[in-house]
Amino acid sequence: MILKVARLGHPIVRMAARQVTAEEIKTHDFQVLIDDMVETMHEYSGVGLAATQIHLPIQVAVLEVERNPRYPDAPSVPLTVLINPVVTILDNELVDGYEGCLSIPDMRGVVPRFKRLRVQALGRNAEPLDIIAEDFHARVIQHETDHLKGEVYLDRMRDMRTLSHLAEFQRYVLEAGSGAPRK
Ligand code: NI
Repeated sequence: MILKVARLGHPIVRMAARQVTAEEIKTHDFQVLIDDMVETMHEYSGVGLAATQIHLPIQVAVLEVERNPRYPDAPSVPLTVLINPVVTILDNELVDGYEGCLSIPDMRGVVPRFKRLRVQALGRNAEPLDIIAEDFHARVIQHETDHLKGEVYLDRMRDMRTLSHLAEFQRYVLEAGSGAPRK
């Protein structure tokens, strides 16, 4: 089932999410929720979706990057479910790159993100995950785990003048090819 996505301004987008218990993860309802989050992410061509974005303040996020029309140049990332994620920064070099968000439709802006990180979490069957990610993969994880703290990419931007509507971003940044920060 495709879920309704909360937009910036809805209080849930600014809520810190609570942890999920192993017992909850194993319920049928929770497994359906994960399937619905993946379906919703696919429907809107997102590279990630956090539970706060679908009106649930629980620490769950899904992410996947594969031939995504919203991020055509992004390297692929396999479908991953992160429950109760804990991020450790491994390389605190900041890399600028454009981001968008399903809760902030039709916009792009340049966001500095840490280059490399480790994320420890539970997977959809409560199995422990321990993932090292860098560059765009690390960017997506930082974006989604920020959502679980009630933070959005606008909060991380250093230069609000890079904020652009999507059509203008495609016309003046992607097609022009110049001045585009690397991912
Ligand atoms: Ni987002």
